[in-house]
Amino acid sequence: MTVHFIGAGPGAADLITVRGRDLLASCPVCLYAGSLVPAELLAHCPVGVRLINTAPLSLQDIVAEMAAAHAQGLDVARLHSGDLSIWSAMGEQLRRLRELEIPYTVTPGVPSFSAAAAALEAELTLPGSCQSVVLTRTSGRASSMPDGETLAAFAATGAVLAIHLSVHVAQQVQHELLVHYGADCPAAIVWRASWPDERVVRTSVGEIAAAAQANALQRSALILVGRTLSQEGFGLSRLYADDYDRRYRPRGEEPRFPSGTEAN
Ligand SMILES: C[S@@+](CC[C@H](N)C(=O)[O-])C[C@H]1O[C@@H](n2cnc3c(N)ncnc32)[C@H](O)[C@@H]1O
Repeated sequence: MTVHFIGAGPGAADLITVRGRDLLASCPVCLYAGSLVPAELLAHCPVGVRLINTAPLSLQDIVAEMAAAHAQGLDVARLHSGDLSIWSAMGEQLRRLRELEIPYTVTPGVPSFSAAAAALEAELTLPGSCQSVVLTRTSGRASSMPDGETLAAFAATGAVLAIHLSVHVAQQVQHELLVHYGADCPAAIVWRASWPDERVVRTSVGEIAAAAQANALQRSALILVGRTLSQEGFGLSRLYADDYDRRYRPRGEEPRFPSGTEAN
């Protein structure tokens, strides 16, 4: 018996991995985070599956369900939205399973920031413009931010910020970012990225709060900020430059990697 933690992806039912879908189809018990996981995904579960929406449950209740399945020798699929490595509450569940000596696996999912970037048709790291993306959030009722992990501190680096769980404090986000990025820096709010009712609002740092309010964007939305959200005015990558000497395309009289060599 194993508990399989599965990243469900950002919302579109076909953005789960093949491995995640197959695991879902093989487990007679499925615990899913009902507030963010699309109902269509549950259609992959086998006939007769025991389905449990964990939205109203506590950690203790969730682990009790897993322990009960363990006692009966039933595999469990544990579905969380997006990817499991960020804001999934997987860590505390894994710790309890280790204590109880219940085996588990972890299958990644498409994170919401990737779906939002796809909706914007954006490469977030562009040559000469920005080479880092910070996945962050603001303080919430359930989680405060550690000292030093402020929006202002991240903004000071000039990186692209993908700000989760924060559209309800869009005014505060705008205020903290303005001094570092300037009012005209491109920003976007993507609501329910990849869902059928997805909405994409392109704006600027100086207009984030007004854009969120005018479009009544709440809850499942990401705020993205950074120069690379603009689709023009960036350099070319060296990787595909015709004169760039590389392993798979030797150039010049003395190529760094003559054909057939395996050197680094
Ligand atoms: C509890 S976190 C879960 C993050 C998730 N584990 C991931 O990999 O993206 C929920 C937050 O992620 C963002 N989010 C999740 N799904 C989203 C989507 N489809 N579109 C936009 N933002 C989303 C929102 O900022 C939301 O408040």
